[in-house]
Amino acid sequence: MNNNQMKAAINNTYGPPEVVKVMDIDKPIPTDKEVLIKVYATTVNRTDCGFRSAEYFISRFFSGLFRPKFKTLGNEFAGVIEATGKDVTLFKTGDKVFGYNDTRFGAHAEYMTMAENEAITTMPADITFEEAAPITEGGHYALCDIRAAKVKPGHNVLIYGATGAIGSAAVQLVKQIGAMVTAVCNTKNVELVKTLGAEVVIDYTKSDFTTIDQTFDFVFDAVGKSSFKTCKPLLNKNGIYISTELGKNAENIFLALTTPLLGGKKVLFPMPTICKENVIFLKELVEKGKFKPVIDRQYSLEQIVEAYNYVESRQKTGNVIITVN
Ligand SMILES: NC(=O)c1ccc[n+]([C@@H]2O[C@H](COP(=O)([O-])OP(=O)(O)OC[C@H]3O[C@@H](n4cnc5c(N)ncnc54)[C@H](OP(=O)(O)O)[C@@H]3O)[C@@H](O)[C@H]2O)c1
Repeated sequence: MNNNQMKAAINNTYGPPEVVKVMDIDKPIPTDKEVLIKVYATTVNRTDCGFRSAEYFISRFFSGLFRPKFKTLGNEFAGVIEATGKDVTLFKTGDKVFGYNDTRFGAHAEYMTMAENEAITTMPADITFEEAAPITEGGHYALCDIRAAKVKPGHNVLIYGATGAIGSAAVQLVKQIGAMVTAVCNTKNVELVKTLGAEVVIDYTKSDFTTIDQTFDFVFDAVGKSSFKTCKPLLNKNGIYISTELGKNAENIFLALTTPLLGGKKVLFPMPTICKENVIFLKELVEKGKFKPVIDRQYSLEQIVEAYNYVESRQKTGNVIITVN
C-alpha cells in the first residue's frame, strides 16, 4: 500500500454483512472547503445496515436503485484533521473532531473528508475517540423525535426500546429536559436503564407495558416494535406517539398525515436531519455530563462483518464501535 492509499470497508453490491470486504483504495482528497480526517473510531449502526442491505426497497431512492451509491459506509466518526482545503477556516491540522455524515458516509475507512460547514465539530475535552464516535447517530435521531414531540419539564414520557442506540440516548436527552421517564427493556438491562435516569423501568419479559395504568404526554417507540393502536390507551388527551419504524404497511406515515388533522392523540413521523448546531448541542451535553452514549462491543475494521452480524442480531445494547487507526 502506498501513501496515497488506505484501508476501507467496501460494499460493491447490496446484501448481507458478508458483501463487505476490507481492501486498499485511494485516499480521498479534500476540496478547497473540505478537511481530510484520519479516522480513529467509527460505529456500525442500524443506518449503515439499512444502506448496506437495502432491505426496504424505498431506501434505494437514497442509496442507489440497482447498486450502492455509497461503497464505503460509516456515518459516525471521531478522528484527527490531517489536512485542510485552502478555504477552510473553522478547523486546523491536528484538531480532534467528531461528527456525522449520512449524505456521503465514508467513515468505515482510515481517512474520510467532510466539508467544514457539515455536521462536524471539535471533540469534547477528555474523552476518547471510541467515546466520541457514538455521540451522533442515536443522539440525533432521539433529539429530532423529542423536539418534534415538544417535550417539556414535568412531562411524562414512555420510552420503549430504551437500550438501543436511539433509546438509550432518548432516556438521557428527555431527562436533561426535566421530564419523567418510564423505560421498557429486557431484564439484563434494567439496572443500566436506571443509571441512564429512568424513574420507572418495565421489564418487557415480565409484564406488558401497554397494560399499565398510567398515561403519558409522549410514547416513543425507539425500537419500532409497537403500534399506535396498542399504545393509544397510554396517551393522555393530546399525547403524541412516535415510532422509529414505518410500522405494518407503513401505517405510521399514513397516521402521521391523518391523526394531526383530527385533534387529540396523534402520531408524528419526523424526518431526522442533522446539522453542525445539533452536533455542538450534543457535544455540550457530553461536556456537562448529561449525555454519555452507551457502548456495547468494540471491533477492529478487519472485523467489520462480525460487527454487522452482531448489530443485525437486534440485541446490541447502545452502540457498537469500530476502532480504525
Ligand atoms: N430508518 C432509519 O434510517 C433508521 C436508522 C436508525 C435506526 N432505525 C430504527 O430504529 C430502531 C432502533 O435502532 P437502534 O440502533 O437504536 O437499536 P437496535 O440496535 O435496533 O435495538 C437494540 C435494542 O432493541 C431492544 N429490543 C430487541 N427486541 C425487543 C423487543 N421485542 N422489545 C423491546 N425491545 C427490544 C434490545 O433491548 P433489550 O436488550 O432491552 O431487549 C436492544 O437493546 C430500529 O428499529 C432501527 O431499524 C431506523
